Amino acid sequence: MKKQLLTISLVGLSLLAAAQNKVTINAGDGKTIINKHIYGHFAEHLGRCIYDGFYVGENNKTIPNKNGVRLDVVDALKKMKIPNLRWPGGCFADTYHWKDGIGPKAKRPSIVNTWWGGVTENNSFGTHDFLNMCELLGTEPYLAGNVGSGTVQDLTEWVQYVNFEKNSPMSNLRQQNGRATPWNVKYWGVGNEAWGCGGNMKPEYYANIYRQYSTFMNPQVGKEKIFRIASGASSDDFNWTETLMKNIPVSMVEGVAMHHYSTFGWDPGVKGSATDFTEAQYFRTMQQALKMDEFIQKHSAIMDKYDPQKKVALVVDEWGAWYEVEPGTNPGFLYQQNTMRDAILAGATLNIFHKHAERVRMANLAQAINVLQAVILTKGEKLILTPTYHVLEMYNVHQDATLLPIDIKSDDYEVGKDKLPAVSASASRDKAGKVHVSLVNLNPNKPQEITVNLKGLTAKAVTGRILTSAKIQDHNTFENLTKIKPAVFNGAKLNGDELTVTLPAVSVVVLEM
Ligand code: AHR
Repeated sequence: MKKQLLTISLVGLSLLAAAQNKVTINAGDGKTIINKHIYGHFAEHLGRCIYDGFYVGENNKTIPNKNGVRLDVVDALKKMKIPNLRWPGGCFADTYHWKDGIGPKAKRPSIVNTWWGGVTENNSFGTHDFLNMCELLGTEPYLAGNVGSGTVQDLTEWVQYVNFEKNSPMSNLRQQNGRATPWNVKYWGVGNEAWGCGGNMKPEYYANIYRQYSTFMNPQVGKEKIFRIASGASSDDFNWTETLMKNIPVSMVEGVAMHHYSTFGWDPGVKGSATDFTEAQYFRTMQQALKMDEFIQKHSAIMDKYDPQKKVALVVDEWGAWYEVEPGTNPGFLYQQNTMRDAILAGATLNIFHKHAERVRMANLAQAINVLQAVILTKGEKLILTPTYHVLEMYNVHQDATLLPIDIKSDDYEVGKDKLPAVSASASRDKAGKVHVSLVNLNPNKPQEITVNLKGLTAKAVTGRILTSAKIQDHNTFENLTKIKPAVFNGAKLNGDELTVTLPAVSVVVLEM
């Protein structure tokens, strides 16, 4: 009898344990739009991102291209829906003199890429190449201006060169170089990491420099206003944001940046392999990634003090995982593989951005091709769509949709004495009325049973897509390009206003109702 009771209570306990995860979607309360620009990307003159990644040269006869830009890359990025692309850096931006990259290619000067591998940069991919490529991709360019080693005049003239329609020295030069109409570039970075590679400035000094540079950037882009982004803090440098917000009037800045990389540190050799890692290392990467939530909250709270109407956007224009480079590759090229760990990191981070959609209105994953947490890896004619690519493609249904506030009660994922929430979730309603829910299982050892309460929503049917694999280390290779790819997900059951979902271990799911 005693044994029976014990069995019954154990069954009861395990049922309770299985019902831990509860997500409540307040479908009637949505008011904030998830700005599509948080799905932005980043292309720096770094390693094989531009050369070999986006651009293989006009004379390349083996890889199909338009004006030297790989067409397989264009197809893939269009499918993923890339809303904006940041260029030419990064650290490179503060060494970049845009006039080196215009006019006949044979006459362009070569420079040394001092930040990234000390390689020769022949400037064959410059302003026209980038902005025309953005047109091909159907994406908005985000130009990062050189403040660290440039001049106010350089930046002012770059704005005039790409944006001014009428007669002026720079628009005339643009026309001589073959482009009649302006490109109307809205997004401009005023320096990058000014606290580090962008000039090692103190925040007070940079705030003043920002005011000076931004004063001379023509505010008009066609009928719109230019969007100027101040170089922002690294991760938890709240004093940087405080100083900028205190010293730059809200009328002079449209966005303040912030960078956060998920990494184990900046000393040589400590970052660990991108593919060969332990569960403890996976857990540490997730801890670093989830700090994004706290950092955004704290930077936003500072911004709220000076800008309670939230006119200025927080722009997370560099984020992602940073590991050791792949064995045998140039350490200055930051080429790393991309596994299910990165897919889970991407899904959870995008859910965090959604949660803060009122303030976070733009973000850029670092970087698009062959660098850091890339969505595409290339080798000659071959191209890998990474697990991160698939998450961004699956999640694109959230772009410009209305955020539906959610409450999450999650099971813990424990490693040693530390724990993280096992479930990350987000929901939105698109313009056609479809509701999408993105779910991530951070616990690689256990499926998650989730009850989703749909408050204020009458759903008729649920469908889904899943990205999953047996191990967190799994990834696509040039020998097996499609080991990891999205599949149909049948693990969600609708019962009135409640969904029950079984989220497999190592998975990212997007549901549609
Ligand atoms: O994305 C690589 C580098 O990381 C960027 O150039 C720089 O801004 C950051 O430190």
